[in-house]
Amino acid sequence: MQLSLRLPPGALCRLASVVGGSRTRSSSSAAATEKSAPTPSPTATSNQPAQLEVNGSTYATDSWTNVTPKILSYLGANKHLQRDHPLSIIRQRIVDYFYGAYRNQRGNPLFSVYDKMNPVVTVQQNFDNLLIPSDHVSRQKSDCYYINKHQLLRAHTTAHQVELISGGLDNFLVVGEVYRRDEIDSTHYPVFHQADAVRLVTKDKLFERNPGLELFEETWSGKLADPRHILPSAKIMDQTKQPCHTLEAVKLMEHEMKHVLVGLTKDLFGPRIKYRWVDTYFPFTQPSWELEIYFKDNWLEVLGCGIMRHEILQQAGVHQSIGYAFGVGLERLAMVLFDIPDIRLFWSNDSGFLSQFSEKDIHNLPKYKAVSHYPQCTNDLSFWLPSDVELDAGFSPNDFYDLVRSVAGDMVEQISLVDKFKHPKTGKNSLCFRIVYRHMERTLTQAEVNEIHKQIAAASVDNFNVQIR
Ligand code: DAH
Repeated sequence: MQLSLRLPPGALCRLASVVGGSRTRSSSSAAATEKSAPTPSPTATSNQPAQLEVNGSTYATDSWTNVTPKILSYLGANKHLQRDHPLSIIRQRIVDYFYGAYRNQRGNPLFSVYDKMNPVVTVQQNFDNLLIPSDHVSRQKSDCYYINKHQLLRAHTTAHQVELISGGLDNFLVVGEVYRRDEIDSTHYPVFHQADAVRLVTKDKLFERNPGLELFEETWSGKLADPRHILPSAKIMDQTKQPCHTLEAVKLMEHEMKHVLVGLTKDLFGPRIKYRWVDTYFPFTQPSWELEIYFKDNWLEVLGCGIMRHEILQQAGVHQSIGYAFGVGLERLAMVLFDIPDIRLFWSNDSGFLSQFSEKDIHNLPKYKAVSHYPQCTNDLSFWLPSDVELDAGFSPNDFYDLVRSVAGDMVEQISLVDKFKHPKTGKNSLCFRIVYRHMERTLTQAEVNEIHKQIAAASVDNFNVQIR
């Protein structure tokens, strides 16, 4: 595992390649670093209605719009609240752990839980409030589902931090689904679930036993630079602490946070789990870490966390506290804990899947037993991009993956870009995608697959103006 401080921050932290559920690789766009607003993709304007109705509100569309009807159909599914669903069981385990870890003097849980927040958020909530630079790769159209230039489906549950802190909360958990455009394989799905937590403490609480100590450096003016003016090059951060905090405050907070998060990990994976802390970079915390566990001969990232950037608290009207925050992907935890091999299973309504899990005994997690294994069918699709379109400039593989999801839904298990080349004479780019079809719940016939494959080809011609080879 590379330490992120050795890399330019943008290259490592596509926020999410880090903890977003089961993100282990970054998408094609991760390579693009500090560039300005991306060019609209071919899906942006074709067949697009002028308005969209999402969660009971109407939104005007524009050249940023890239949500598909298929993606919108996931809103309100609330798998994390569905009785006996493995994601709901993981949610309850996390919530119960926090209820137990922090109690007030009367013995009541200190943390409150928000698990029905509207996933439609503003660019300000998802990015600006969290100090994510305006040219950060995670904002790209190829990575998020935008409703329009100003609104999107949240890409992480961290998006709700500032509104909840502004509302006066100082210990809370947010659980919900998040939406990201990505590749198609057994660990990636455009909708997955996260839990995020914030804990703020004042000087009196943190230094109860050391009343002489301070949260903030004496020399610090109390004013911070306008975060929006921080240039990308200034993102290389000091992993020790933010300039405003005292070392004592940061160290105590770090100690408490790591103690609680190791406790959560042991609660989930057992007391003997091997773990390690890895330095990393997030725009919204400093210092920042990932917690990794040793599982099946590999180090696996389970969560991201850090000391909250003080600018975020200031924006929310909190001036006299220091905070820690963390975020964790529920699918990744559930896949490991229940031995669930394919992320699509979380969306299955098959009773053979759902009946294996029960809320009655959430401390006894069963291992998933595959109901049966249906055969795969593999078909390739090759096409020429229009002569003025380059790969990742005007066409990104994520555009194609979304189109396939819209046409074929969960029949597709995996897609890989197996070949690309530029014709030496015409200058046109040719791409070949290998599509693996396999249904989770029944056998697909070759004829059925051929028909869907034809529909994908036709839709590609319509949407991207490509020429099938
Ligand atoms: N939002 C991050 C992601 O999706 C995860 C995360 C990291 C959340 C650090 C936090 C945090 O609250 O402090 O990858």
